[in-house]
Amino acid sequence: MLYTRYERFWHWSQALLIFTLFFTGLGLHGTHDLIDFRTAVEIHTYAAIALIVLWIFTTFWNFTTGQWHQYLFKEGVLKVIRFYAYGILVGEPHPYRKGLQRKQNALQSLTYMGFMIFIGPALWASGIVYLFYDLWSGYSWSGNGLFLIAFLHTAAAFLMRIFVIIHIYMTTTGKTPTHYIKTMISGYDSIELTEAEVAYIEETHAVSMKD
Ligand code: HEM
Repeated sequence: MLYTRYERFWHWSQALLIFTLFFTGLGLHGTHDLIDFRTAVEIHTYAAIALIVLWIFTTFWNFTTGQWHQYLFKEGVLKVIRFYAYGILVGEPHPYRKGLQRKQNALQSLTYMGFMIFIGPALWASGIVYLFYDLWSGYSWSGNGLFLIAFLHTAAAFLMRIFVIIHIYMTTTGKTPTHYIKTMISGYDSIELTEAEVAYIEETHAVSMKD
Protein backbone atom coordinates (compact mmCIF):
# COMPACT_ATOMS: atom_id res chain seq x y z
CA MET A 1 0.00 0.00 0.00
CA LEU A 2 1.74 3.11 -1.23
CA TYR A 3 -1.02 5.69 -0.79
CA THR A 4 -3.00 5.54 2.45
CA ARG A 5 -6.73 6.21 2.71
CA TYR A 6 -6.24 9.82 3.83
CA GLU A 7 -3.70 10.45 1.08
CA ARG A 8 -6.15 9.25 -1.58
CA PHE A 9 -9.00 11.15 0.04
CA TRP A 10 -7.13 14.45 -0.02
CA HIS A 11 -5.75 13.87 -3.51
CA TRP A 12 -9.16 13.22 -5.12
CA SER A 13 -11.12 15.78 -3.11
CA GLN A 14 -8.46 18.38 -3.95
CA ALA A 15 -8.78 17.45 -7.64
CA LEU A 16 -12.57 17.75 -7.51
CA LEU A 17 -12.41 21.12 -5.73
CA ILE A 18 -9.81 22.50 -8.16
CA PHE A 19 -11.94 21.44 -11.17
CA THR A 20 -15.00 23.05 -9.54
CA LEU A 21 -13.04 26.24 -8.79
CA PHE A 22 -11.65 26.44 -12.31
CA PHE A 23 -15.05 25.84 -13.90
CA THR A 24 -16.90 28.37 -11.71
CA GLY A 25 -13.93 30.82 -11.82
CA LEU A 26 -14.02 30.82 -15.63
CA GLY A 27 -17.81 31.23 -15.44
CA LEU A 28 -17.57 34.39 -13.36
CA HIS A 29 -14.59 35.60 -15.38
CA GLY A 30 -16.92 35.55 -18.43
CA THR A 31 -15.08 32.85 -20.42
CA HIS A 32 -18.23 30.72 -20.63
CA ASP A 33 -21.86 31.17 -19.63
CA LEU A 34 -22.74 27.62 -18.67
CA ILE A 35 -23.53 28.88 -15.17
CA ASP A 36 -25.03 32.21 -14.06
CA PHE A 37 -22.75 34.71 -12.30
CA ARG A 38 -24.42 34.60 -8.87
CA THR A 39 -24.40 30.78 -8.68
CA ALA A 40 -20.79 30.72 -9.91
CA VAL A 41 -19.71 33.14 -7.14
CA GLU A 42 -21.58 31.13 -4.51
CA ILE A 43 -20.16 27.73 -5.53
CA HIS A 44 -16.69 29.28 -5.99
CA THR A 45 -16.74 30.71 -2.48
CA TYR A 46 -17.87 27.47 -0.78
CA ALA A 47 -15.45 25.33 -2.79
CA ALA A 48 -12.60 27.77 -1.95
CA ILE A 49 -13.36 27.55 1.78
CA ALA A 50 -13.49 23.72 1.53
CA LEU A 51 -10.13 23.70 -0.31
CA ILE A 52 -8.47 25.95 2.27
CA VAL A 53 -9.75 23.70 5.10
CA LEU A 54 -8.50 20.62 3.19
CA TRP A 55 -5.06 22.23 2.72
CA ILE A 56 -4.85 23.08 6.43
CA PHE A 57 -5.72 19.47 7.43
CA THR A 58 -3.32 18.03 4.86
CA THR A 59 -0.46 20.27 5.98
CA PHE A 60 -1.13 19.06 9.55
CA TRP A 61 -1.24 15.42 8.31
CA ASN A 62 2.00 15.88 6.33
CA PHE A 63 3.84 17.13 9.39
CA THR A 64 2.39 14.73 11.98
CA THR A 65 3.01 11.64 9.80
CA GLY A 66 6.45 12.78 8.59
CA GLN A 67 5.21 12.57 4.99
CA TRP A 68 6.59 16.06 4.35
CA HIS A 69 9.96 14.34 3.80
CA GLN A 70 8.61 13.01 0.51
CA TYR A 71 8.60 16.52 -0.94
CA LEU A 72 12.23 17.39 -0.20
CA PHE A 73 14.64 18.01 -3.04
CA LYS A 74 16.17 14.81 -4.49
CA GLU A 75 19.17 14.31 -6.78
CA GLY A 76 18.53 13.28 -10.38
CA VAL A 77 16.00 15.85 -11.66
CA LEU A 78 17.81 16.14 -14.99
CA LYS A 79 17.79 12.35 -15.46
CA VAL A 80 14.01 12.30 -14.96
CA ILE A 81 13.52 15.24 -17.35
CA ARG A 82 15.71 13.50 -19.94
CA PHE A 83 13.63 10.34 -19.49
CA TYR A 84 10.30 12.13 -20.15
CA ALA A 85 11.74 14.14 -23.06
CA TYR A 86 13.58 11.26 -24.78
CA GLY A 87 14.06 7.95 -22.90
CA ILE A 88 10.33 7.22 -22.71
CA LEU A 89 10.12 7.39 -26.53
CA VAL A 90 12.82 4.76 -27.05
CA GLY A 91 11.72 2.40 -24.28
CA GLU A 92 14.42 3.16 -21.69
CA PRO A 93 13.61 2.14 -18.10
CA HIS A 94 12.53 4.88 -15.69
CA PRO A 95 15.65 6.22 -13.93
CA TYR A 96 13.92 6.36 -10.55
CA ARG A 97 13.17 3.50 -8.15
CA LYS A 98 10.00 4.01 -6.13
CA GLY A 99 10.08 3.06 -2.44
CA LEU A 100 7.89 3.41 0.63
CA GLN A 101 9.81 6.50 1.71
CA ARG A 102 10.52 7.58 -1.87
CA LYS A 103 7.08 7.67 -3.46
CA GLN A 104 7.82 10.60 -5.75
CA ASN A 105 10.59 10.88 -8.31
CA ALA A 106 12.91 13.91 -8.23
CA LEU A 107 10.86 15.87 -10.78
CA GLN A 108 7.59 15.15 -8.96
CA SER A 109 8.96 16.38 -5.61
CA LEU A 110 10.22 19.57 -7.22
CA THR A 111 6.92 20.19 -9.03
CA TYR A 112 4.74 19.46 -5.99
CA MET A 113 6.96 21.70 -3.85
CA GLY A 114 6.50 24.48 -6.45
CA PHE A 115 2.77 23.83 -6.34
CA MET A 116 2.71 24.12 -2.53
CA ILE A 117 5.03 27.13 -2.30
CA PHE A 118 3.89 29.23 -5.29
CA ILE A 119 0.67 28.24 -7.05
CA GLY A 120 -1.37 27.21 -3.97
CA PRO A 121 -0.49 30.24 -1.81
CA ALA A 122 -0.84 32.65 -4.79
CA LEU A 123 -4.40 31.35 -5.24
CA TRP A 124 -5.54 31.28 -1.64
CA ALA A 125 -3.84 34.56 -0.67
CA SER A 126 -5.18 36.52 -3.67
CA GLY A 127 -8.52 34.70 -3.35
CA ILE A 128 -8.96 35.70 0.30
CA VAL A 129 -8.06 39.36 -0.43
CA TYR A 130 -10.54 39.22 -3.35
CA LEU A 131 -13.23 37.67 -1.13
CA PHE A 132 -12.92 40.46 1.42
CA TYR A 133 -13.07 43.25 -1.17
CA ASP A 134 -15.91 44.89 0.82
CA LEU A 135 -13.46 45.52 3.67
CA TRP A 136 -11.09 47.59 1.50
CA SER A 137 -13.41 48.90 -1.22
CA GLY A 138 -13.56 52.36 0.41
CA TYR A 139 -9.87 53.21 -0.08
CA SER A 140 -8.72 55.46 -2.93
CA TRP A 141 -6.48 52.68 -4.32
CA SER A 142 -9.23 50.03 -4.29
CA GLY A 143 -9.89 50.28 -8.06
CA ASN A 144 -6.27 49.54 -8.96
CA GLY A 145 -6.06 47.06 -6.09
CA LEU A 146 -9.03 45.10 -7.42
CA PHE A 147 -7.56 45.05 -10.91
CA LEU A 148 -4.23 43.78 -9.55
CA ILE A 149 -5.79 41.11 -7.33
CA ALA A 150 -8.10 39.87 -10.10
CA PHE A 151 -5.10 39.71 -12.43
CA LEU A 152 -2.90 37.82 -9.93
CA HIS A 153 -5.71 35.40 -9.09
CA THR A 154 -6.49 34.69 -12.74
CA ALA A 155 -2.78 34.30 -13.61
CA ALA A 156 -2.34 31.81 -10.75
CA ALA A 157 -5.49 29.96 -11.91
CA PHE A 158 -3.91 29.56 -15.37
CA LEU A 159 -0.66 28.29 -13.84
CA MET A 160 -2.80 25.78 -11.94
CA ARG A 161 -4.39 24.77 -15.23
CA ILE A 162 -0.96 24.18 -16.80
CA PHE A 163 0.01 22.08 -13.78
CA VAL A 164 -3.21 20.01 -14.05
CA ILE A 165 -2.80 19.38 -17.79
CA ILE A 166 0.82 18.21 -17.41
CA HIS A 167 -0.12 16.20 -14.31
CA ILE A 168 -2.90 14.38 -16.18
CA TYR A 169 -0.60 13.69 -19.13
CA MET A 170 2.00 12.26 -16.71
CA THR A 171 -0.57 9.89 -15.21
CA THR A 172 -0.81 8.15 -18.60
CA THR A 173 2.92 7.32 -18.75
CA GLY A 174 2.87 4.29 -16.43
CA LYS A 175 2.97 0.57 -17.44
CA THR A 176 -0.45 1.16 -19.04
CA PRO A 177 -2.19 4.54 -19.60
CA THR A 178 -4.39 4.01 -16.54
CA HIS A 179 -1.85 2.31 -14.23
CA TYR A 180 -1.06 5.41 -12.12
CA ILE A 181 -4.72 6.42 -11.88
CA LYS A 182 -5.66 2.94 -10.64
CA THR A 183 -2.81 3.16 -8.12
CA MET A 184 -4.17 6.44 -6.75
CA ILE A 185 -7.66 4.88 -6.48
CA SER A 186 -6.71 1.56 -4.86
CA GLY A 187 -3.59 2.81 -3.06
CA TYR A 188 -1.58 -0.25 -4.21
CA ASP A 189 1.38 -0.27 -6.58
CA SER A 190 3.84 -3.08 -7.34
CA ILE A 191 7.32 -2.03 -6.31
CA GLU A 192 10.55 -3.84 -5.46
CA LEU A 193 11.06 -3.73 -1.71
CA THR A 194 14.50 -3.51 -0.13
CA GLU A 195 15.38 -5.97 2.66
CA ALA A 196 15.05 -3.14 5.16
CA GLU A 197 11.55 -2.32 3.90
CA VAL A 198 10.44 -5.98 4.10
CA ALA A 199 11.85 -6.26 7.63
CA TYR A 200 10.10 -3.03 8.65
CA ILE A 201 6.74 -4.22 7.27
CA GLU A 202 7.04 -7.67 8.87
CA GLU A 203 7.99 -6.17 12.22
CA THR A 204 5.43 -3.36 12.41
CA HIS A 205 2.61 -4.39 10.01
CA ALA A 206 2.47 -0.64 9.37
CA VAL A 207 1.95 -1.09 5.64
CA SER A 208 -0.70 -3.31 4.06
CA MET A 209 0.68 -5.79 1.45
CA LYS A 210 -0.85 -7.85 -1.35
CA ASP A 211 0.98 -10.75 -3.04
C1 HEM B 1 -8.09 28.67 -2.73
C2 HEM B 1 -8.89 29.63 -2.44
C3 HEM B 1 -9.62 30.52 -3.42
C4 HEM B 1 -10.33 31.63 -3.04
C5 HEM B 1 -10.49 32.13 -1.60
C6 HEM B 1 -10.90 32.20 -4.23
C7 HEM B 1 -11.69 33.35 -4.26
C8 HEM B 1 -12.15 33.99 -5.40
C9 HEM B 1 -12.97 35.19 -5.42
C10 HEM B 1 -13.49 35.90 -4.18
C11 HEM B 1 -13.20 35.50 -6.72
C12 HEM B 1 -14.02 36.70 -7.22
C13 HEM B 1 -15.46 36.37 -7.21
C14 HEM B 1 -16.30 37.61 -7.50
O1 HEM B 1 -16.07 38.24 -8.56
O2 HEM B 1 -17.18 37.92 -6.69
C15 HEM B 1 -12.51 34.54 -7.54
C16 HEM B 1 -12.48 34.55 -8.91
C17 HEM B 1 -11.83 33.59 -9.70
N1 HEM B 1 -11.20 32.45 -9.24
FE1 HEM B 1 -10.89 31.96 -7.31
N2 HEM B 1 -10.54 31.46 -5.33
C18 HEM B 1 -9.77 30.40 -4.88
C19 HEM B 1 -9.21 29.40 -5.65
C20 HEM B 1 -9.28 29.33 -7.04
C21 HEM B 1 -8.73 28.26 -7.85
C22 HEM B 1 -8.04 27.01 -7.30
C23 HEM B 1 -8.99 28.59 -9.16
C24 HEM B 1 -8.66 27.84 -10.43
C25 HEM B 1 -7.93 26.78 -10.54
C26 HEM B 1 -9.65 29.87 -9.17
C27 HEM B 1 -10.03 30.56 -10.31
C28 HEM B 1 -10.68 31.77 -10.34
C29 HEM B 1 -10.96 32.55 -11.54
C30 HEM B 1 -10.55 32.18 -12.98
C31 HEM B 1 -11.67 33.69 -11.13
C32 HEM B 1 -12.17 34.83 -12.03
C33 HEM B 1 -11.21 35.99 -11.87
C34 HEM B 1 -11.74 37.27 -12.48
O3 HEM B 1 -12.17 37.25 -13.62
O4 HEM B 1 -11.71 38.29 -11.80
N3 HEM B 1 -9.82 30.29 -7.87
N4 HEM B 1 -11.89 33.60 -6.70
